[in-house]
Amino acid sequence: MTSLPLVGRDAELARVRALLADAIGGVGGALVLDGAPGAGKSRLLDEAVRVGADHGFEVRRAAGRVVERHIDGAVVSQLVGHHDTSPPAVHDAVCAAARRRPVLWAVDDVQWGDPASVAAVAYAARRLVGHSAAVLLALGAEPLGGERSAGSSATRQALDGLERLHIDGLDANAVLALFECIAGSLHPPVAPRVVELTGGLPMAVVELARLSTPEQRSGDVPFPDLPAVSEAMVRAFAGPLVQLPEPTRRVLCVVAAEPSGQVDVVARAVAALGESFADLEPAEAAGVVVVRDGRVVFDHPMRRVVAYASLALPSRRAAHRALAAAWSGPDDSAHRLRHRVAGAAGPDDQLADDLQLLAEHLQRSGRLREAVEAWRHAGQLSIDAARCAQRAKSSTEAQRQLDSRRDELAGPLSTLSKAELRVARVIAEGLSNRQAAERLFVSAKTIDAQLQAIFRKLAVNSRAQLAVLVTRHDMAGGGAR
Ligand SMILES: Nc1ncnc2c1ncn2[C@@H]1O[C@H](COP(=O)(O)OP(=O)(O)O)[C@@H](O)[C@H]1O
Ligand SMILES: [Mg+2]
Repeated sequence: MTSLPLVGRDAELARVRALLADAIGGVGGALVLDGAPGAGKSRLLDEAVRVGADHGFEVRRAAGRVVERHIDGAVVSQLVGHHDTSPPAVHDAVCAAARRRPVLWAVDDVQWGDPASVAAVAYAARRLVGHSAAVLLALGAEPLGGERSAGSSATRQALDGLERLHIDGLDANAVLALFECIAGSLHPPVAPRVVELTGGLPMAVVELARLSTPEQRSGDVPFPDLPAVSEAMVRAFAGPLVQLPEPTRRVLCVVAAEPSGQVDVVARAVAALGESFADLEPAEAAGVVVVRDGRVVFDHPMRRVVAYASLALPSRRAAHRALAAAWSGPDDSAHRLRHRVAGAAGPDDQLADDLQLLAEHLQRSGRLREAVEAWRHAGQLSIDAARCAQRAKSSTEAQRQLDSRRDELAGPLSTLSKAELRVARVIAEGLSNRQAAERLFVSAKTIDAQLQAIFRKLAVNSRAQLAVLVTRHDMAGGGAR
């Protein structure tokens, strides 16, 4: 079990509750939760178990385990206390239990279950109408220690005919709530970017939140395009990648290093590295990428990050340098510089000079947040100590201008505390006090009190007026840049 409160998942939970309600009414049934690793299947199973227990179900939990995959009855024994995997025996067991009180069987990681158990549980699960029983199965796509197992397709066949509920990424509101549970307040306009980077995958949101800096959370500094990932994330997403031929993986790394995925750019870079773009085909066949509308797109943002991380640093740098050269157009200088920075093996005065030109240009055009970054990189890449210090100073100066501009923009809203600002935003979205309380995980009383303080501080007396102020503030980019 976990200490994080469940965020989002209203529709999924409603489906699970309906399954349990039907079971209480004697119309038993089953549901297979499937989705990417880290999507929250186990978390939802936990919630279902809690709801089931609250409603008087006799709950039995089981989980498939890689090490027990070859032991017949490993899963069944957790549910019924013996290893007999004959399908009718397992069906009899669940029906007999359901005559006493409603039964919930919750089986996690079915993909690692021993095939005999999975077949028997699925057989029973297909025959629950007329019985007070519910079976919930969580089916992951996690690989089996490198080998592409025939077992996994057998498992899928065994589950044929059972209703599926796909556990997708979280939406921006749920991502915001989950992020804030872990790392504290996140500037709400940044939430869609976090969704984009993580695919809304709870496991990735949790990791990104843990690694986030205060500047990223306030929206001052962007999240990295290719965030660092844990070993667990690599294990979860490397499965199909490690099966691919070496040349394919090298081409994939170049694709992953280029945020736009633009085929023409990637193809030029790949050719410059002496590789062949056609080597991408096995990755397409494995469903890891698709080529669509002139872009190569990964099946999941985390696959992209893991494909990138799976090559050694020198290869990644070489990919960036080739991409820098591939962005050859007159309007491509920003792309070119970004890749040159990522591809730099150490300080480089020429690159630092170019970054200074960019920083000056950004500052003149008022793009201060980017200017701060450009100055900082220029400083870091300078060999000459005096210029290094000068550029660091310019970075600090640009940051100071940014701060004072933000204070101006914040206007009346700058008088609100962070908590009040969050309340103001959700109320401005049109939520009721009760809905706001649920969204922000506080009591309705807290919302009432904070809203009174907000009205007083901003000298407004209606939600509509508040919404106008918040919208004006956000459109002015308050806090975001
Ligand atoms: N809806 C959610 N609300 C809060 N935390 C979640 C939610 N879904 C997943 N998590 C958290 O994200 C991580 C990955 O979820 P998990 O259920 O283990 O994924 P899966 O079983 O699909 O691989 C866990 O830390 C889990 O607690
Ligand atoms: Mg799980």
